[in-house]
Amino acid sequence: MPESSSFDSRTASRVDDYIRALFVPPDAALERGLSDAVAAGLPEIQVSPNEGKLLYLLARIAGARRILEVGTLGGYSTAWLARALPPGGRLVSLELEPRHARVARRNLERCGLARRVVIRVGPAAESMRDMIRRRLRPFDLIFLDADKESYSEYLDLAVRLARPGSLILADNVIRNGRVVDGAPPEAADRAIREFNAALAAHPRLDSLILPVFRNKLDGLSVSIVT
Ligand code: SAH
Ligand code: DHB
Ligand code: MG
Repeated sequence: MPESSSFDSRTASRVDDYIRALFVPPDAALERGLSDAVAAGLPEIQVSPNEGKLLYLLARIAGARRILEVGTLGGYSTAWLARALPPGGRLVSLELEPRHARVARRNLERCGLARRVVIRVGPAAESMRDMIRRRLRPFDLIFLDADKESYSEYLDLAVRLARPGSLILADNVIRNGRVVDGAPPEAADRAIREFNAALAAHPRLDSLILPVFRNKLDGLSVSIVT
């Protein structure tokens, strides 16, 4: 069956727009950040406005004071998460590409969030291992959104950087439904399928995947560390 007949993406887009019009008011600083990221040649693969609002709400609900993000891009999800922090709260965001980090820093500066955010450039797994070695205080919320092939590795490292009660979130875990197939041809899809199975089987995590819509059907996993 072709994907288009199994999922009515036009209706889903209208519903997504409807929800955004109700709950996500236009935001000049965030929108300028997105247009600057496009002008700088960054890919437009940030979370949707509605998913950004969801990240913000989850961070507020969790009372997160320390947040770790894996995959910064132009800082769009970073800004949503950082806005959820109370005074004195901190966000560390890990990014491989120096160019992405530069765009993100400028965007966060414009949003008035630069003082709460540290962007660390380099391979995220190395930065996470370094933070584990340095025995950093645990993070209250960890958001995974970098290279999909490394998600299972990031999950193990994230659990070690968390405490009981911390939230671990991961973007792009449905991949327009491709993860439902036993052996999807794309390596990233297979990696996410393995990640989802690892989440479900993890002895220290209680989890679910929320389907989210952003042009295509995708998903956000939500886990609490037990
Ligand atoms: N969270 C962002 C989107 C992130 S896109 C948002 O929603 O606004 C994924 C990002 O992960 C890209 O910027 C990419 O450069 C980065 N990335 C890819 N591989 C990485 C790695 N090994 N370590 C750290 N970041 C990586
Ligand atoms: C894509 C989307 C994402 O949210 C991401 O983190 C990476 C890639 C994509 O649509 O290709
Ligand atoms: Mg993503």
